[in-house]
Amino acid sequence: MNDKIASLKSQFEEQLANVLETAQLEEIRVAYLGKKGSITDLLKGMKDLSNEEKKTFGQHVNMFKAEATEKIGAKMKELKELQIKKEIESMPVFDVSMPADTARGSYHPITLVQRECERIFKSMGFHVEDYSEIVTDYECFESLNIPKHHPARDMQDTYYLDNGQLLKTQTSAAQNAIYKKYKDDLINKNIPIKAVFPGRCFRNEATDACHENTFFQMEGVMVGKDINISNLIFFMKTMLSEVFQRDIKVRLRPGFFPFVEPGFELDINCLICGGEGCSSCKHSGWLELCPCGMIHPEVLKAGGIDPEEYTGFAFGLGLTRLAMMKYGIKDLRDLNSGNLKAMDQFTDDM
Ligand code: DAH
Repeated sequence: MNDKIASLKSQFEEQLANVLETAQLEEIRVAYLGKKGSITDLLKGMKDLSNEEKKTFGQHVNMFKAEATEKIGAKMKELKELQIKKEIESMPVFDVSMPADTARGSYHPITLVQRECERIFKSMGFHVEDYSEIVTDYECFESLNIPKHHPARDMQDTYYLDNGQLLKTQTSAAQNAIYKKYKDDLINKNIPIKAVFPGRCFRNEATDACHENTFFQMEGVMVGKDINISNLIFFMKTMLSEVFQRDIKVRLRPGFFPFVEPGFELDINCLICGGEGCSSCKHSGWLELCPCGMIHPEVLKAGGIDPEEYTGFAFGLGLTRLAMMKYGIKDLRDLNSGNLKAMDQFTDDM
């Protein structure tokens, strides 16, 4: 029996010495140590031996088994190192003095539309504000007249952090902070609050050509003495006519949002068919673009502003939707695809 071990051992050593690749080594491992391997076979054959023989033979086989396992492990390490070395050697040498590729990046269509809107609103005296993507439940819902268990929350499921904060579902989440930031100037100096705040929003939603779990909005508010719906219509119309570089017709329909009263859906005349009716506007001649309304008294109050004395309007412009319309992008998912070929056709300068 011991001869059997010795011959198997020398056969193993010889095979191991000739191995060049990890796959080959794995074959050897299975051939010797696998369930049906030669070493396992040796152990199985022990049943016919006497107890004394079993003891010494078993010891020898186990020693061989341990030795083979160790050697295979060491060989595997050696082969892997060799493989890495070979790969490094075959890599092209990186020439740091080589001139750069002339292809340059470009701005994302949403960035372009956002900057355009910012420019237009700035020219009309609005501040442009940046705001966090992680907000509290108070900012995103409570301060906007959406208490816990309000059905309006159903439409805005989002991603919650362990500490109770959440990824904002709407740029409206910044309203409360904006009111608090500018209210003293409003109250003491009678300077109306005029601000827009673009931002990335998140919703826990299934995606399709018209829905994404990540999208961009630009919220705007104006608060002062005697601000009314005509002011809202004027600013929206002016802004949209600038963005699309033509006179834009708008119409208001009633819409419900807990933080405005009355609330509206602002539609624009379909740019594709000019209002005649086509498949893009579902043959109505109008496209829904921007929900808006007169700020709810409770929302002003939460921002430290007396609704008896001041009024204001708010709107939530869908930047993603605006970019799609401006550039004729049919599938919203293209905007988050990271596909440079699809995106860099909109601009060639950085
Ligand atoms: N925050 C709303 C949403 O994402 C949109 C909106 C509606 C914003 C009406 C407004 C508004 O400021 O007045 O669904």
